[in-house]
This record gives sequence, C-alpha cells and structure tokens, in this order.
Amino acid sequence: MSQNHIAKEIDITPVDVPPHPEWPVLSKSEKQLIKERIKRMLKEQNAVLVAHYYTDPNLQELAEESGGCVSDSLEMARFGSEQDAQTLVVCGVRFMGETAKILNPEKRILMPDLNATCSLDEGCPADQFSAFCDAHPDHTVVVYANTSAEVKARSDWVVTSGIALPIIQHLASKGEKVLWGPDQHLGRYVQKITGVEMLLWPGSCVVHEEFKSVALERMHRLHPDAAVLVHPESPESVIEQADVVGSTTALINAVATMDNKEFIVATDGGIFHKMKQLAPDKHLIEAPTAGEGATCVSCAHCPWMGMNSLHNLAQVLESGNQQIHIQPKLCQQAVKPIQRMLDFAKEHAVATQSKGNA
Ligand code: 13P
Ligand code: SF4
Repeated sequence: MSQNHIAKEIDITPVDVPPHPEWPVLSKSEKQLIKERIKRMLKEQNAVLVAHYYTDPNLQELAEESGGCVSDSLEMARFGSEQDAQTLVVCGVRFMGETAKILNPEKRILMPDLNATCSLDEGCPADQFSAFCDAHPDHTVVVYANTSAEVKARSDWVVTSGIALPIIQHLASKGEKVLWGPDQHLGRYVQKITGVEMLLWPGSCVVHEEFKSVALERMHRLHPDAAVLVHPESPESVIEQADVVGSTTALINAVATMDNKEFIVATDGGIFHKMKQLAPDKHLIEAPTAGEGATCVSCAHCPWMGMNSLHNLAQVLESGNQQIHIQPKLCQQAVKPIQRMLDFAKEHAVATQSKGNA
C-alpha cells in the first residue's frame, strides 16, 4: 500500500461559493465613529475580539487597538481560552467560533455572521466521516481545526496548519497510522515530510485550490529574487515551488525576518495587512489564481472570511444575535482532542504568534 492513500470512494458534494463581499469604504470620520461605538460596547459587555489574519483590515486594527488578538487559528484558540472576558467575539469563520465555544462553554461566543462557513468544514459531513473512521479502527484520527464540532468529537487529535507537522511527527515516533481529514493537500504535505502511513479524506479549500503552479512558475521567472511563501492548503505542485510552507503566522514571520525584498504569497490576500504592518518596505505579490484550469471562484480571497465587517460586528454587539450554541455533551467530547493540541503546543513550545505580537 502506498504511504498516502486518498479515499477516492468518498464523494464530496461541491459547496456553493458566494462572491467575496465588498468591504465598505469608510471615510476617516465614519471609521472612527463606528470603531468608538464598538469599543464602548466591548467594554460595557466585558467582551474581547478574536480575529483572523484574513479578515477586513479595519477589524484587524480594531482587535489590536481594543486589547483583543489577530492571529492564526491555533493562537485564536489559545488566546480565547486564556481570557477572563465573559464574551468572545470571533471574527473569522464558524469553526473558529465553535472551537472558542468548545474550549469556553461558560462564555458567550458571538460572531459577526454565523453563515461564514469553510469549504473544508462543508466537505466533511460528520456521519460520512464517522463511517470512514469506523472502517479503519486501527488508525489514529487526526482532524484539521477547519471542521464541525461533531467531526472534532470523533477525532483523537485536532491540529491546525501551525502544529500539524510536529504532531504527526510525534505520532510517527510512536509508530501510529493516521486517518487524516479533511484537507488532502495539508495531509499530503505532512505525510511526505514525516513518511507516516496516512489515509486522506479528499477535501480541499476552494481558496487555496485556485493557486496555479504553471502561472506561479512564470511569475517567479519574472521576479527571480522573490521568496515564494505558500500555505499548505495549496495543491502539491504549488507547495513544491515554495521557499517557505507554513501557517499564516509562519508566512507573516517569513516576510518580517527574511532578507528578500520581494515575496510571492500563496494564501488569502487579507494576510497582506499584517505583512505590510510588520515589513512596510517589502514588496508583496499575490500568487496567481489565473491560468490553465482557473475557475476564478475565489481569487485568493475567502468569501466567508469576507463576511466579517465593522458593520455586522456593531450589529451583533447591539443585538446579541449570532451566538454560537453547542450541546454540552458534544462540547465535552470535542474539547479533548482540542485540548490535547493546546497542551502539545505548550509542552513543545510551538510558536503561535507573529513577530509583531510576540
Ligand atoms: P491558519 O491556521 O494558518 O491561520 O489557517 C486557517 C485557514 O483557514 C487557512 O485557510
Ligand atoms: Fe476555509 Fe479556505 Fe476560507 Fe480558510 S480560506 S476558512 S480553509 S475556505
């Protein structure tokens, strides 16, 4: 048997991908007004913002100005679980809000828009995934954080892109076989490095799937001194061209610390905000999503991350709507593999913060 075996028999229903919403253009005074209103409500409600690097730069700024965090999904989980605040407002996609709820069942978890899903989560229904696990009982089940609470509850370990590699290396050292879901590209990447025997769920991210290797090669020829930074949810042929493969935090740190003046970046364009903040003199280029095989469904901007804006954040704090609820029993099951990941991160000192936050 080959060492990474993709489960071809599993049929994934394609997800409907909405267009990326236009982020409202606000004048300086409008922006100031709405930010002040939100800050007031955060204070009154003992609430903290926890935002992802792909969200609207206005939200990222506000999260930092108000004592919240902007980070990758691992740090979002860790940061949220260390807050005394009674409410966490998670600006990102639904699995991030659910992870916050699972880790903090006593807290109120709000999101600007609960419809903000993720193609990996949508492409991994819990009943189908559970049947896949049942068919391979001799495998350790490792799931990416981009999954529902039910899928997490069926797993032994939850991982994010920032910690997948050391955790799979750890399992490899114990001689375990791994059943991995749902992102096949990240799974294949860690399998190639660790050599572990892995069964892969055939899921993918509609945003990263759009990066095209031939067009990237061409772009790199035009910018030969640029370092190529790739998120591991990208296809194998794109990852193969990378100078750095890693989580959003790892890619940001690469821009801040490498000597190169130019970078070609294969991940969601929202990340450019933090990269520019930390390294204003560097030239950042979006990796191509056009060329052979392109569908331009997403064009390097996650439509679901785009559903977070200052306006719906203000509305949600006013109304208290868009709250995450998860059955307590499900929380109790799903928290174990997530906590295992956070304990591993602590024990092995896995860096979770970008250089600007450290
Ligand atoms: P990170 O954990 O690297 O931020 O990735 C989350 C994600 O959804 C990337 O598409
Ligand atoms: Fe999911 Fe891809 Fe959006 Fe990340 S970028 S939240 S993996 S759809």
